[in-house]
Amino acid sequence: MKLSTRYLWATPDVAPSPAKLFDLARPALQRLDAETAQALGLRALKLSSSIWRSRDPDDTTGGVECLGLRFRNPLGLAAGCDKNGDYIDALGAVGFGFIEVGTVTPRPQSGSPRPRLFRIPSQLAVINRMGFNNKGADYVVQRLRTRRYPGVCGVNIGKNASTPNDRAQDDFLACFRKVYPYADYVTLNLSSPNTPGLRDLQTHAGIDQVAGVLLQERRVLRQQSGRNVPILLKIAPDLDGEGVSAIAGAVRSLGLDGVVATNTTTDLQLVGPWVPAGASGGLSGRPLLGKSVRVVREIRAGIGGELPIIGVGGITTGEAAIDMLGAGANLLQIYTGFVYRGPALVSEILRAIRSAATPIVVVEARRDG
Ligand code: FNR
Repeated sequence: MKLSTRYLWATPDVAPSPAKLFDLARPALQRLDAETAQALGLRALKLSSSIWRSRDPDDTTGGVECLGLRFRNPLGLAAGCDKNGDYIDALGAVGFGFIEVGTVTPRPQSGSPRPRLFRIPSQLAVINRMGFNNKGADYVVQRLRTRRYPGVCGVNIGKNASTPNDRAQDDFLACFRKVYPYADYVTLNLSSPNTPGLRDLQTHAGIDQVAGVLLQERRVLRQQSGRNVPILLKIAPDLDGEGVSAIAGAVRSLGLDGVVATNTTTDLQLVGPWVPAGASGGLSGRPLLGKSVRVVREIRAGIGGELPIIGVGGITTGEAAIDMLGAGANLLQIYTGFVYRGPALVSEILRAIRSAATPIVVVEARRDG
């Protein structure tokens, strides 16, 4: 007897879990170009999660208090995977403790021409020059409003490519105002290598220019809404010690609530012989781990023990996750490892955290900024 797919999927006990579906789909997806494969993978995840009874793989971690928020576990999905918030519920069902959508810009933009995403499977790495392709802040707000995922949802905001750096704060402010009522936290992205000149704002003056305006606006919004939305800064892994310490100084003196470290690296030497023809942009995945762990350690030394750090960059195993926590991260995010290893990596990292000796340091958001 031939069972119809419809029958199979309508029967929760035999419906494929996201992890199984990922394993089944992987060989076919690997034959497609990287961006199409990722889009299809996310759609398949959404379909499977709408019919599969979510079994939380993390019933036993007990959750984490950080940034004045309660995270059901400390592992999040990094920005860039769900730029428009189209897959929040599906990704939540995989077991992430939090999801960061974006980067979103005030106006929609198409990003760089394709191809712009390049896989390096042997290194568990990718190189991307996506260029903030996104549907704009209004669209993302609609997705946030209608989400059912009960976990923490951060929104990563940026500027449109056509906005010059000296007007960058206008774009950040426009996004901030729109997403404020629906975001649990907001991340300022000054560290993408794919928006020309953006990283130049990663100085004390640049951070002040952008974050200063937002912190002022937050006082108003907080008073109006009674809600405090923490503001974090996402930084690059390519900063030297001096650059990291300048950023740490700015974060402290301005009163930002935390740091997301790190974005992708422009150091393609890390995968020298494996760089695919025509690839340029930011490198992520396993080769990034050493740099991101170093930056987390340095930023922790610079900001002291009180401010939260979300450690991200090159976490492709449970062991790497523990290294990142050991460097001083309070929360973790993954992206490239999830693309290659799927939901199984989420379970592996949560298991590693549960059995590790490294305690998760709990830090509270400041309320005076
Ligand atoms: C990213 N990343 C990213 N970061 C960000 O702040 N805004 C963004 O829009 C994007 N977009 C994006 C697209 C693609 C295709 C990739 C691979 C990455 C960076 C991402 O959030 C993360 O910081 C790095 O990828 C490092 O983590 P992993 O991938 O090594 O786990």
